[in-house]
Amino acid sequence: MRGHRPFDDARSLCSLLDLDAEEIRGLLALAQDLADGRGPDKPLAGQTLAMLFTKASTRTRVSFEVGTFQLGGHALMLSANDTQIGRGEPIRDTANVLGRYVDGVMIRTFEQADVEEYARHAGVPVINGLTDHVHPCQLLADLLTCRQVFGAAALGSMRVLYVGDGNNMARSWLNAAIRLGFELVLCSPEGYRLSDLEVHRARAAGAKVVEEDEPQAAAAGCHVVTTDTWISMGQEEQKAARKAAFAGYTVDDALMDAARDDAIFLHCLPAYRGYEVTAAVIDGPRSRIYDEAENRLHAQKAVMAWLMGAVALPG
Ligand code: CP
Ligand code: NVA
Repeated sequence: MRGHRPFDDARSLCSLLDLDAEEIRGLLALAQDLADGRGPDKPLAGQTLAMLFTKASTRTRVSFEVGTFQLGGHALMLSANDTQIGRGEPIRDTANVLGRYVDGVMIRTFEQADVEEYARHAGVPVINGLTDHVHPCQLLADLLTCRQVFGAAALGSMRVLYVGDGNNMARSWLNAAIRLGFELVLCSPEGYRLSDLEVHRARAAGAKVVEEDEPQAAAAGCHVVTTDTWISMGQEEQKAARKAAFAGYTVDDALMDAARDDAIFLHCLPAYRGYEVTAAVIDGPRSRIYDEAENRLHAQKAVMAWLMGAVALPG
């Protein structure tokens, strides 16, 4: 019986903090190998990934499905409304049952605790495809983009400016800074910052994190300027208040000019031109948003090849 196999040691990716620095660096090296056509051949042959979505998605859905196929496996789309999940079946039961059928589970949902509960009960690797708390696969793609532009060594020494909402993307950058040691500048309006406690804990864990009130001053010396939507999924009713609160936090050409000459602009997408970023920046020469989106595919293939396909990470 499948349930009697020793799945208890299945590793999951609920947050970047589940990985150490060496594993992050190894995953990025494997992702680059896969992007360059040098990766392992079909490590997921005969395997199935279940993809659970209780929120919308374009990139995550397509890149996981295509990535699984390219690795020789099969991906199964499960939306909350078409399954018993939407009718309130306990996560414990869903996770245990899915773990008898499939070899990995990718989840996009609201609560981080729900992803962690799936990881506790599925017995197969669980991969976080975004919660309100963090978006670790996006950060692997973002870090891969930084590695491609600035080189692997820069991952420990670059300076990154995150402007805007203190949300799942801001927290994911903070987690990356904890693990890799680069300098992270956070610039968010009052009321929309990561909590003092989180920032304090990140510093205690070794992160070089600086909080700045004024975006222009914050950009000095930055290799990367990044932002995210002011209105995340589930916050639609706060739209008016958020648009008012974030006035002055738009990434524009003046802000990019205050960063390094070779600075790049990143955005996880979907983006809202004229709000968190101007069209001139996101569609301009310093933007790397489409490489970044492509890198979701390579980074997630590396995660699946490692967690599900038992592929070793390059040293
Ligand atoms: N960046 C990202 O996760 O995009 P989707 O919401 O389209 O999956
Ligand atoms: N912060 C955004 C990211 C979307 C990929 C959200 O959670 O909606």
